[in-house]
Amino acid sequence: MHATRSTLIAVVASLATTAQAKLLIYLPLNETSGTRATDYSGSNLHGTYVNGPQLQGSNGARLDGNNDYIQLPNNLLRNLGSLTASIEVNIREEQTGLYFIFGIGSTASSSGAGNGYILATGDPEYRVAVSPSNWESEAEVRTTSALPRNQWKTVTFTVQTAAQLLGLYDDGVYIGGQTNTAAITAPGLITRGNTANNYIGRSVYTQDKYLAGSVRNFRLYDNALSAPEIAKLHRPGFQQDEPLPGGGGGGGGGGGDAPEDRIVAALGSIDIPNIDNIRGNINLPVASGGLAIRWESSDTNVITANGQVTRPVGRDVVVILTAKTYK
Ligand SMILES: *[C@@H]1O[C@H](CO)[C@@H](O)[C@H](O)[C@H]1NC(C)=O
Repeated sequence: MHATRSTLIAVVASLATTAQAKLLIYLPLNETSGTRATDYSGSNLHGTYVNGPQLQGSNGARLDGNNDYIQLPNNLLRNLGSLTASIEVNIREEQTGLYFIFGIGSTASSSGAGNGYILATGDPEYRVAVSPSNWESEAEVRTTSALPRNQWKTVTFTVQTAAQLLGLYDDGVYIGGQTNTAAITAPGLITRGNTANNYIGRSVYTQDKYLAGSVRNFRLYDNALSAPEIAKLHRPGFQQDEPLPGGGGGGGGGGGDAPEDRIVAALGSIDIPNIDNIRGNINLPVASGGLAIRWESSDTNVITANGQVTRPVGRDVVVILTAKTYK
C-alpha cells in the first residue's frame, strides 16, 4: 500500500443549465435615511451604508469618492458556479485612478492586495474580471474605453464556470466575451467561499480609490441570465412596473404546474452532501421530482457522470457537476 497525501476535491454543482436563475440579493439603494441598504430579494441579505453616503431615493446612493461605500454581506459568492451581477452607476467627472464599482472577495491582510474576487470597474476601460488570487490571475472582459461620466449606465456581467464563459453587457446589450485566456475560477470557490471584503463603491485593493459616483439597483443571481433577461435590467428612470427575472419588479403569475416550474423544482431539490469536500464516491440521483436527471462532469478522470471518484494525489481539484433534465 502506498501512503497517499490527504487531498480535497472541491465540487461546485451547477444545477442550472435548464433552470431559471434565482435572484440572491437585490439592493435598490433607494433609501432616504438610515444605514441599512434593504435587500428586496427575500433573502434578508441587507447591506450597510458606511461613512454616510447621501441617500437620494430613486436617484440612488451618492458616494463621495473619499471613503463612502456599501458593505455587502459576507460569503456572498459561496456555492456559486455561475452568476449574473448587475448595477446602475453614474460616475462623476472627479473620478480618477483605479477603483471598483463593486468588488466581492477577499483582501490579503498582509499586503492589502486583492486575494480572490469578482470586480467591475469603469476605468481606464470598462472592464470586469474574476480572479482566484490577485490581478495576475484575472480572467477578464475589457472594452476599449472608459465608462462615460455624468450619466446612468447599467453594468452587467455573467460568469459561467462550466462553459468557461465571461460575458459583458453595456446598458443591457451584450458587448463581448472573455478577452484573455486565464481560466475562470468558480466564484463559489474563491477563498473557499469565505469572503468578507464585499463592497459597492470600494475596491478589494486597499490602495485603490473609492467610487466618486451614484449607485442603485444592485442585483446578484445564482446563474447566467439570458440576453433578453439582461436587456430588462436596463430600465432608465427606475421604473417599477415591469416584472424582472427572479422577482424584484412585481407581476408574475401563471400556472403552477408549468413544465418550467417542475424543472426548477426538480433541479433545485437535488442535494449532494459535502459538495465542497468530496472524498469518496457520490450518489448522483438519476431522477428528481418525477423527471429524469442526466449528469455531466467537467473532469471525468476525477468524477465520472455516475459519481465514481478518483482522488488525485497531492492537489485539490475543482470539478463542475451539471445536472440536466428536459421537458
Ligand atoms: C425601493 O425599491 C423597492 C423595490 O422596488 C420598493 O419596494 C420600495 O418601495 C422602494 N422604496 C422607496 C423609498 O422608494
